Amino acid sequence: MNIKFADVSYNVEHALDLIKRSDARLIVLPELFNTGYMFDSPEEILAFAEDKNGFTIQSFLRIAKEKNCYITGGFAEKERDKIYNSSFLVGPEGLSGIYRKVHLFRDEKKIFSPGNLPLRLYNIDGFNAGLMICFDWLFPEIARSYALMGADIICHSANLVLPYCPDALITRALENRVFFILSNRIGKESMGDRILRFIGKSEIVAPDGDVLLRAGTDTEGIFEAEIEPSMARDKNITPLNNIFEDRRCDIYSEKILKK
Ligand code: ACM
Repeated sequence: MNIKFADVSYNVEHALDLIKRSDARLIVLPELFNTGYMFDSPEEILAFAEDKNGFTIQSFLRIAKEKNCYITGGFAEKERDKIYNSSFLVGPEGLSGIYRKVHLFRDEKKIFSPGNLPLRLYNIDGFNAGLMICFDWLFPEIARSYALMGADIICHSANLVLPYCPDALITRALENRVFFILSNRIGKESMGDRILRFIGKSEIVAPDGDVLLRAGTDTEGIFEAEIEPSMARDKNITPLNNIFEDRRCDIYSEKILKK
């Protein structure tokens, strides 16, 4: 998606229009797709922050029921005096849950509170999906935790500006043998003399590292692939190597991991 800064009704309608063209069972939208990204302060974003009863989630609840599909996407979430960079997952049965971005990138630290919810997985047709947001990709612990919890699919809503993630996710998918669905925005935003260009390249990566699709750097649209989520249940990379069972937790001790 391209996104109009601070124009929630336009962005939500635009996302709904894109979704109406699709028959996908699971749809992933970018990070903060309803508000845009470059807010200057918590005060500035507060007017656009919502909770589960807000316009954004209510709009997607309706279309998820109508189209009998699951939709996840990022929004600024208000809870009491805090604002989180969050994503929702809605489905035909209602709101499945909310994820709060754990690893805040750069100036987000001035605006959002870091995520404080435990990681959890959501059941979609008997498979397990986890949510993460943008910079969370750089911390392999999130994807690993989800994989160890039994994730088959990781839905990754993003506003990527650094170039590394689309290629790095191939490794992240492979080392955990899970599907990744990356939905990144395109276009640019500016604030004062600072300009951010978002790199696009939304993609779907399979547990064997195969890139099933990758969008362009400035192409907007719905990009679809058919996946077989049970492929993520096979953690063998050779007949004699299982990515979980071969781990040596005695060697990489908790003391090191917590350093
Ligand atoms: C990012 O985490 N939005 C780069």
